[in-house]
Amino acid sequence: MPLKVMTIFGTRPEAIKMAPLIKQLEGDAAIESTVCVTGQHRSMLTQVLDLFEIVPQHDLAVMTGNQTLNGLASRLIALLDDVLAAEKPDRVLVHGDTTTASAAALAAFHRRIPIGHVEAGLRTGDLMQPWPEEMNRRVIDVMSDLMFAPTASSKANLAAERLYGRTIVTGNTVIDALYMTIARIDCDAALRAELDARLPFLDGTLPMLLVTGHRRESFGDGFARICAALGDLALSGAVQIVYPVHLNPNVRGPVQDALGDAPNVHLIDPLDYLGFVRLMQRASLILTDSGGIQEEAPALGKPVLVMRDVTERPEAVEAGTVQLVGTDRAAIRNAVLSHLERQDASRAPTSRNPYGDGRASERIVAALAGRAFDEFDASTACHHALPAHPAPAVCLESR
Ligand code: UD1
Ligand code: UDP
Repeated sequence: MPLKVMTIFGTRPEAIKMAPLIKQLEGDAAIESTVCVTGQHRSMLTQVLDLFEIVPQHDLAVMTGNQTLNGLASRLIALLDDVLAAEKPDRVLVHGDTTTASAAALAAFHRRIPIGHVEAGLRTGDLMQPWPEEMNRRVIDVMSDLMFAPTASSKANLAAERLYGRTIVTGNTVIDALYMTIARIDCDAALRAELDARLPFLDGTLPMLLVTGHRRESFGDGFARICAALGDLALSGAVQIVYPVHLNPNVRGPVQDALGDAPNVHLIDPLDYLGFVRLMQRASLILTDSGGIQEEAPALGKPVLVMRDVTERPEAVEAGTVQLVGTDRAAIRNAVLSHLERQDASRAPTSRNPYGDGRASERIVAALAGRAFDEFDASTACHHALPAHPAPAVCLESR
């Protein structure tokens, strides 16, 4: 009998990071794969499902405009319980740190269904940063019997907490998704031209700063300071800014009010993953508070300034790809200008990525199916050598 595995997710980053794993689950004879999307995000989730051609068996459509965390969590638990009761999976897989992930883990735990946590063990050590994600990560790991830690340091975090489950170091599935996407872009000149044509306003002679931001702990004053810094940079004329603005109204309203008329600032809707990866390739520098982008940047050779005071992803800070700049107006402005002056923006992609080698999904599925596999080891892994993902090595010169 195949193992019945239900994958549950609901937001854009979870979808990107679960997509390669779902493909791997679907292709494995030892597994019967079922996908349940909660719809915590609507259009940003659909963009990813369409791109990776994932057709969920269940779509709970929970999102409401400007939803509250408690309203969302209560809807999730009630609806997920019905799905779990009907499907009776042998195991559920949840990802990361969202309200969907923590509610799904709790709903599964209450039904005594074993939980596998993908991207387990990331910690800042501060329950309020990121909020509420640090709490979500911790409670999911308490309930999980299988914890798929992306790196050795996330495994060490879990070991220090003396949890119940088994930890396996897999690398981060975002690197699997990124390699799949880079392969498509780098080997298809017509696709590159089509993606570039979506942003006809870009000036090829001016450095490009790519910006994203959505963290709840920065709502209000934090976003006001971030926008003020972007306004300063736009006025300096040193850089053109492209900002795909998150659909959360607490982000969209203030950003549009502050920067809607600013020169050199292009506020655009969220891009699908294909378009966003292409934009990262073209960027001189990335300014973000996103978790996933901190992991993708080393593989693309892009420096990243992170608008947070702490990060649960220390590996790229140690590797020098990521610098924490907080949300102070002058600190952001000065860090961007100093990076541009040093002209260190076009680094080569790191051949040893601290976050993965493109085989995380393969390891997770092998572990679920009870097959032998080697854990991810960032000190020896070289993603360029992998036959399953030849495109980054073969096609890099085509950018
Ligand atoms: C959520 C996650 C956060 C993750 C982020 C990724 C929680 C608590 N937060 O934050 O961990 O980093 O997603 O983006 O789980 N909206 C739309 N359409 C969409 C998506 C969002 O209109 O496709 C708007 C809606 O008004 C929605 C609001 O954004 O109510 C907030 O969405 P929500 O998922 O609650 O929070 P995020 O800030 O997106
Ligand atoms: N991303 C995207 N389109 C965009 C902005 C980001 O596809 O317009 C991707 C990005 O490459 C990364 C993920 O979305 O893989 C990050 O999502 P987000 O910043 O919403 O969440 P976080 O990573 O902070 O949880």
